[in-house]
Amino acid sequence: MNDKRHLSKNVQNKLNLNLPRNLTFDVPKKELGSRIVRLQSLLEPSDVLILFSSFPSNHPNAMYQRFRQNSDFFYLTGLDIYPAILVITINDVFLFYNEPDPEEELWTGVRPNHQEIKSYLGFITEIYPFNDFKEKIFHFLENKTQIYYPFGISEEYDHFILNQLEQRIRRGRALSYYPTRITHSYEILFELRIVKSPYEIETIKEIMKITKEAHINVWKNTQPGMYEYELHSILLKTFTKYNAQEAYPSIVASGSNACILHYTNNNSVIRPGELILIDAAASKYYLNTDITRTFPSNGKFNSIQRLIYNAVLEAQKKAIEYSKLGYCMEDSHFAAVDVIVDFLKEEHILKESKQEILEKELYKTYYMHRTGHWIGYDVHDRGFYISYGKFNQEKVCKNQFHKNHSIPYRRFEPNMICTVEPGLYFSPWLDTIPEEWKGIGIRIEDNVLITEDEPIVLSKEVPKSIEEIESIMKN
Ligand code: GLY
Ligand code: MN
Ligand code: MN
Repeated sequence: MNDKRHLSKNVQNKLNLNLPRNLTFDVPKKELGSRIVRLQSLLEPSDVLILFSSFPSNHPNAMYQRFRQNSDFFYLTGLDIYPAILVITINDVFLFYNEPDPEEELWTGVRPNHQEIKSYLGFITEIYPFNDFKEKIFHFLENKTQIYYPFGISEEYDHFILNQLEQRIRRGRALSYYPTRITHSYEILFELRIVKSPYEIETIKEIMKITKEAHINVWKNTQPGMYEYELHSILLKTFTKYNAQEAYPSIVASGSNACILHYTNNNSVIRPGELILIDAAASKYYLNTDITRTFPSNGKFNSIQRLIYNAVLEAQKKAIEYSKLGYCMEDSHFAAVDVIVDFLKEEHILKESKQEILEKELYKTYYMHRTGHWIGYDVHDRGFYISYGKFNQEKVCKNQFHKNHSIPYRRFEPNMICTVEPGLYFSPWLDTIPEEWKGIGIRIEDNVLITEDEPIVLSKEVPKSIEEIESIMKN
């Protein structure tokens, strides 16, 4: 189908452009309203926040691409409209966005018009045509002192804002001034997004059910001799069945492919007796899950696989224990490292003293990544790990496990969600390990909700003990 937009008036008249306006909005109105209230409570009267929608590129060879809204823009509007710009002050929310063109809608589907947006988002002060932004923005910036601005999304607007600002500050008239402070919008959005609302937590729990079903469907249908992409297709089929997507390119890594951390080729044949590491999860309503499980191709762990698997599982359980108030992500990481170092010493893979192993980070040959990250509207979600921003500098952790006491790590707070995902990777080319260990890569990843009390493993329904996995694969 050839995309011939902007047809002549003559042809337009022959088209029925009265499309049914069956729009649905996924994020509850109230939820968005309370996000805006939280945001405005962090703004000073002299601040202006600017956020851009995603600006999809018009690649000449691409027919069309799936649109992915900018997560900060979606967080505050629940809208996948573009191009659009939000301008927020302590009292107002302005949107720059064109009324949809009916002819365009015939090709791409109905998009919300100004009236529909205003009734969905009760907090919008005014919606202006997109192209008015360049003229109006300096009216909003007059007599303000600070802009929160999302550098790096649009070179055109970065240049425009900086250039215009410089000229206006320099020309400064007696009775008006312009912001001299430009702070990345991350500073404020990170802090908002790091703590999840009940809506976000419940939605992530719902999405987790899809992720669980996808992993279990794979376990039940795996046979040696299949290709990794065949297992990938089972994941995709399950996600699609629920109108969900992959949260990130799924990793289906059999045997030593599991030692390549971001392996996504998924094109090897699965051999009998190998482990398969699957890091795959569903995403829906722009929210994400992020789960890894490792299981044997023929349904039964051998004794070496069992030994290493249980060490990773023990490390993961210990890291989860430290995912609670009073600690920080760095503590949960070093809780996992502690178990892994003890294991590697016990098995004589590392022979140095524990102190030397930790100081020289010798464990990194086998465990080279971090144990966790925030998760939410982005898989690696926005949020500080160190307390250095205006809004979190008081939120420093007094901790147990982490190494460097001079770094002000951000402490855990209730309703944060993070991953806990330690692993051990014994690449075939290492000459420091027994032959039978070569090519074994294991990671176990769960998503954990920080609470006032003990952590809640949101993915606890996805089995991870050897007994449970073997039992499911047997049936
Ligand atoms: N799936 C990417 C990660 O685990 O961080
Ligand atoms: Mn993952
Ligand atoms: Mn992860």
